[in-house]
Amino acid sequence: MSERSGPLADDPFGGRHPTSHERLWGRPWDASYHDGPPPWDTGRPQPAIVRLASAGGFTGAVLDSGCGTGENALHVASLGLSVLGIDVAETALAIARAKADDRGVKVEFAAADALQLERLGRRFETVLDCGLFHTFDGDERPRYAASLASVTEHDGTLYVWCFSDDGPDTGPHPISQEELRAAFTLSTGWNVSRLEAGRLDDDGAPAWFATIKRI
Ligand SMILES: C[S@@+](CC[C@H](N)C(=O)[O-])C[C@H]1O[C@@H](n2cnc3c(N)ncnc32)[C@H](O)[C@@H]1O
Repeated sequence: MSERSGPLADDPFGGRHPTSHERLWGRPWDASYHDGPPPWDTGRPQPAIVRLASAGGFTGAVLDSGCGTGENALHVASLGLSVLGIDVAETALAIARAKADDRGVKVEFAAADALQLERLGRRFETVLDCGLFHTFDGDERPRYAASLASVTEHDGTLYVWCFSDDGPDTGPHPISQEELRAAFTLSTGWNVSRLEAGRLDDDGAPAWFATIKRI
Protein backbone atom coordinates (compact mmCIF):
# COMPACT_ATOMS: atom_id res chain seq x y z
CA MET A 1 0.00 0.00 0.00
CA SER A 2 1.30 3.48 -0.67
CA GLU A 3 2.57 5.81 2.01
CA ARG A 4 1.15 9.32 1.60
CA SER A 5 2.88 11.12 4.46
CA GLY A 6 6.36 12.65 4.81
CA PRO A 7 8.53 13.72 1.90
CA LEU A 8 6.64 11.58 -0.63
CA ALA A 9 3.34 13.41 -0.02
CA ASP A 10 4.28 16.08 -2.60
CA ASP A 11 5.47 13.54 -5.16
CA PRO A 12 2.69 13.05 -7.76
CA PHE A 13 4.01 9.52 -8.29
CA GLY A 14 3.94 8.68 -4.55
CA GLY A 15 7.56 7.55 -4.55
CA ARG A 16 7.11 4.94 -7.29
CA HIS A 17 8.81 4.94 -10.67
CA PRO A 18 6.46 6.49 -13.30
CA THR A 19 5.11 3.93 -15.74
CA SER A 20 5.89 4.07 -19.48
CA HIS A 21 2.41 5.53 -20.07
CA GLU A 22 3.05 8.30 -17.54
CA ARG A 23 6.48 9.05 -19.02
CA LEU A 24 4.97 9.31 -22.51
CA TRP A 25 2.03 11.42 -21.36
CA GLY A 26 4.16 13.52 -18.98
CA ARG A 27 1.57 13.36 -16.19
CA PRO A 28 0.64 10.88 -13.45
CA TRP A 29 -2.42 8.66 -13.97
CA ASP A 30 -4.19 10.57 -11.24
CA ALA A 31 -4.41 13.64 -13.52
CA SER A 32 -6.75 11.69 -15.85
CA TYR A 33 -9.41 11.92 -13.15
CA HIS A 34 -9.05 15.62 -12.28
CA ASP A 35 -11.44 17.13 -14.84
CA GLY A 36 -14.38 14.77 -14.82
CA PRO A 37 -14.52 11.15 -15.96
CA PRO A 38 -11.83 10.05 -18.43
CA PRO A 39 -13.01 8.46 -21.72
CA TRP A 40 -12.84 4.87 -20.41
CA ASP A 41 -14.93 5.66 -17.36
CA THR A 42 -18.47 5.00 -18.56
CA GLY A 43 -20.04 5.05 -15.10
CA ARG A 44 -21.10 1.42 -15.36
CA PRO A 45 -19.35 -1.96 -15.36
CA GLN A 46 -18.14 -3.45 -18.63
CA PRO A 47 -21.01 -5.50 -20.13
CA ALA A 48 -18.67 -8.45 -20.70
CA ILE A 49 -17.72 -8.41 -17.02
CA VAL A 50 -21.37 -8.36 -15.98
CA ARG A 51 -21.98 -11.43 -18.20
CA LEU A 52 -18.89 -13.16 -16.84
CA ALA A 53 -19.96 -12.48 -13.26
CA SER A 54 -23.49 -13.79 -13.97
CA ALA A 55 -21.93 -16.95 -15.35
CA GLY A 56 -20.01 -17.52 -12.09
CA GLY A 57 -16.64 -16.39 -13.44
CA PHE A 58 -15.63 -14.77 -10.15
CA THR A 59 -14.92 -16.92 -7.10
CA GLY A 60 -13.12 -16.50 -3.79
CA ALA A 61 -11.24 -13.32 -2.96
CA VAL A 62 -11.13 -11.03 -6.00
CA LEU A 63 -8.52 -8.40 -6.95
CA ASP A 64 -9.32 -5.69 -9.50
CA SER A 65 -5.94 -4.47 -10.73
CA GLY A 66 -6.15 -0.86 -11.96
CA CYS A 67 -9.74 -0.48 -10.79
CA GLY A 68 -10.18 3.21 -11.67
CA THR A 69 -13.39 4.53 -10.14
CA GLY A 70 -14.43 0.99 -9.34
CA GLU A 71 -17.49 0.14 -11.45
CA ASN A 72 -16.30 -3.42 -12.17
CA ALA A 73 -15.16 -4.03 -8.58
CA LEU A 74 -18.44 -2.62 -7.24
CA HIS A 75 -20.47 -4.87 -9.52
CA VAL A 76 -18.59 -8.01 -8.46
CA ALA A 77 -18.74 -7.00 -4.77
CA SER A 78 -22.49 -6.38 -5.07
CA LEU A 79 -22.85 -10.10 -5.83
CA GLY A 80 -21.46 -10.88 -2.38
CA LEU A 81 -17.82 -11.53 -3.22
CA SER A 82 -14.89 -10.13 -1.27
CA VAL A 83 -13.21 -7.59 -3.59
CA LEU A 84 -10.12 -5.40 -3.34
CA GLY A 85 -9.67 -2.76 -6.04
CA ILE A 86 -6.23 -1.21 -6.34
CA ASP A 87 -5.04 1.75 -8.37
CA VAL A 88 -2.29 4.37 -8.34
CA ALA A 89 -4.80 7.19 -8.89
CA GLU A 90 -5.92 8.46 -5.47
CA THR A 91 -8.61 10.62 -7.08
CA ALA A 92 -10.15 7.57 -8.76
CA LEU A 93 -10.01 5.65 -5.47
CA ALA A 94 -11.76 8.47 -3.61
CA ILE A 95 -14.55 8.42 -6.23
CA ALA A 96 -14.76 4.62 -5.97
CA ARG A 97 -15.06 4.75 -2.17
CA ALA A 98 -17.77 7.41 -2.40
CA LYS A 99 -19.75 5.23 -4.83
CA ALA A 100 -19.43 2.26 -2.49
CA ASP A 101 -20.77 4.36 0.39
CA ASP A 102 -23.64 5.74 -1.72
CA ARG A 103 -24.62 2.30 -2.97
CA GLY A 104 -24.07 0.52 0.34
CA VAL A 105 -21.68 -1.97 -1.26
CA LYS A 106 -19.00 -3.59 0.93
CA VAL A 107 -15.75 -3.40 -1.02
CA GLU A 108 -12.17 -2.34 -0.35
CA PHE A 109 -10.19 0.18 -2.41
CA ALA A 110 -6.49 0.80 -1.81
CA ALA A 111 -3.62 2.68 -3.39
CA ALA A 112 -1.06 0.20 -4.71
CA ASP A 113 1.25 -0.26 -7.67
CA ALA A 114 0.18 -3.14 -9.91
CA LEU A 115 3.85 -3.70 -10.75
CA GLN A 116 4.56 -4.44 -7.06
CA LEU A 117 1.50 -6.39 -5.92
CA GLU A 118 3.60 -8.66 -3.71
CA ARG A 119 3.68 -5.71 -1.30
CA LEU A 120 -0.02 -6.35 -0.59
CA GLY A 121 0.91 -9.54 1.24
CA ARG A 122 -2.39 -11.09 0.12
CA ARG A 123 -3.56 -13.73 -2.35
CA PHE A 124 -6.61 -13.89 -4.58
CA GLU A 125 -8.52 -16.63 -6.35
CA THR A 126 -9.70 -14.34 -9.15
CA VAL A 127 -7.88 -11.33 -10.56
CA LEU A 128 -9.34 -8.85 -13.02
CA ASP A 129 -7.46 -6.48 -15.29
CA CYS A 130 -9.76 -4.28 -17.31
CA GLY A 131 -7.71 -1.87 -19.38
CA LEU A 132 -4.43 -1.81 -17.46
CA PHE A 133 -2.26 -4.46 -19.14
CA HIS A 134 -2.23 -2.65 -22.50
CA THR A 135 -0.83 0.54 -20.89
CA PHE A 136 2.41 -1.27 -20.01
CA ASP A 137 5.24 -1.44 -22.53
CA GLY A 138 7.29 -4.52 -23.44
CA ASP A 139 9.74 -3.92 -20.58
CA GLU A 140 7.00 -3.62 -17.97
CA ARG A 141 4.88 -6.61 -19.05
CA PRO A 142 7.12 -9.39 -17.65
CA ARG A 143 7.27 -7.48 -14.34
CA TYR A 144 3.50 -7.13 -14.33
CA ALA A 145 2.98 -10.84 -15.06
CA ALA A 146 5.32 -11.71 -12.16
CA SER A 147 3.59 -9.21 -9.89
CA LEU A 148 0.18 -10.72 -10.71
CA ALA A 149 1.57 -14.23 -10.20
CA SER A 150 2.76 -13.26 -6.71
CA VAL A 151 -0.81 -12.59 -5.54
CA THR A 152 -2.80 -15.20 -7.50
CA GLU A 153 -3.57 -18.56 -5.89
CA HIS A 154 -2.39 -21.61 -7.79
CA ASP A 155 -5.23 -22.69 -10.10
CA GLY A 156 -6.65 -19.16 -9.71
CA THR A 157 -7.91 -17.20 -12.70
CA LEU A 158 -6.77 -13.93 -14.22
CA TYR A 159 -9.04 -12.12 -16.67
CA VAL A 160 -7.38 -9.57 -18.95
CA TRP A 161 -9.44 -7.18 -21.09
CA CYS A 162 -7.12 -5.19 -23.32
CA PHE A 163 -7.16 -3.35 -26.63
CA SER A 164 -6.28 -5.59 -29.58
CA ASP A 165 -4.53 -4.75 -32.83
CA ASP A 166 -7.10 -6.82 -34.73
CA GLY A 167 -9.08 -4.67 -37.13
CA PRO A 168 -9.74 -1.00 -37.91
CA ASP A 169 -10.46 1.65 -35.25
CA THR A 170 -8.05 0.16 -32.72
CA GLY A 171 -7.78 1.80 -29.30
CA PRO A 172 -4.63 3.30 -27.78
CA HIS A 173 -1.81 0.81 -27.01
CA PRO A 174 -3.20 -2.02 -29.21
CA ILE A 175 -1.78 -5.43 -28.23
CA SER A 176 -1.18 -8.32 -30.63
CA GLN A 177 -2.26 -11.84 -29.73
CA GLU A 178 1.43 -12.83 -29.72
CA GLU A 179 2.34 -10.04 -27.26
CA LEU A 180 -0.45 -11.07 -24.92
CA ARG A 181 0.51 -14.73 -25.03
CA ALA A 182 4.22 -13.90 -24.61
CA ALA A 183 3.54 -12.14 -21.31
CA PHE A 184 1.73 -15.12 -19.77
CA THR A 185 3.73 -18.27 -20.45
CA LEU A 186 4.06 -21.60 -18.63
CA SER A 187 7.58 -20.61 -17.60
CA THR A 188 6.24 -17.51 -15.84
CA GLY A 189 3.52 -19.49 -14.06
CA TRP A 190 0.61 -18.82 -16.40
CA ASN A 191 -1.42 -20.65 -19.03
CA VAL A 192 -3.64 -18.72 -21.43
CA SER A 193 -6.65 -21.03 -21.45
CA ARG A 194 -8.95 -18.89 -23.58
CA LEU A 195 -8.48 -15.88 -25.87
CA GLU A 196 -11.52 -14.30 -27.45
CA ALA A 197 -11.76 -11.32 -29.77
CA GLY A 198 -14.47 -8.81 -28.92
CA ARG A 199 -15.02 -5.12 -28.33
CA LEU A 200 -14.74 -2.98 -25.23
CA ASP A 201 -18.23 -1.84 -24.17
CA ASP A 202 -19.47 -4.38 -26.77
CA ASP A 203 -19.34 -1.74 -29.56
CA GLY A 204 -16.06 0.08 -28.81
CA ALA A 205 -12.48 -0.60 -29.90
CA PRO A 206 -11.39 -4.18 -30.69
CA ALA A 207 -10.30 -6.03 -27.56
CA TRP A 208 -8.92 -9.33 -26.35
CA PHE A 209 -10.74 -11.10 -23.59
CA ALA A 210 -8.19 -13.48 -22.09
CA THR A 211 -8.79 -16.12 -19.43
CA ILE A 212 -5.42 -17.03 -17.93
CA LYS A 213 -4.88 -19.75 -15.33
CA ARG A 214 -2.21 -19.58 -12.63
CA ILE A 215 -0.37 -22.89 -12.67
C1 LIG B 1 -7.66 2.58 -18.69
S1 LIG B 1 -7.89 2.76 -16.97
C2 LIG B 1 -9.06 1.46 -16.60
C3 LIG B 1 -9.75 1.67 -15.27
C4 LIG B 1 -10.80 0.63 -14.89
N1 LIG B 1 -10.27 -0.71 -14.84
C5 LIG B 1 -11.98 0.71 -15.81
O1 LIG B 1 -12.29 -0.28 -16.49
O2 LIG B 1 -12.63 1.77 -15.85
C6 LIG B 1 -6.37 2.11 -16.29
C7 LIG B 1 -6.28 2.29 -14.79
O3 LIG B 1 -5.07 1.70 -14.33
C8 LIG B 1 -4.49 2.55 -13.36
N2 LIG B 1 -3.04 2.27 -13.33
C9 LIG B 1 -2.11 2.61 -14.25
N3 LIG B 1 -0.90 2.17 -13.89
C10 LIG B 1 -1.07 1.53 -12.71
C11 LIG B 1 -0.19 0.85 -11.83
N4 LIG B 1 1.13 0.73 -12.08
N5 LIG B 1 -0.71 0.30 -10.71
C12 LIG B 1 -2.04 0.40 -10.42
N6 LIG B 1 -2.91 1.05 -11.22
C13 LIG B 1 -2.44 1.59 -12.35
C14 LIG B 1 -4.83 3.96 -13.82
O4 LIG B 1 -4.76 4.91 -12.78
C15 LIG B 1 -6.25 3.76 -14.35
O5 LIG B 1 -7.19 3.97 -13.35
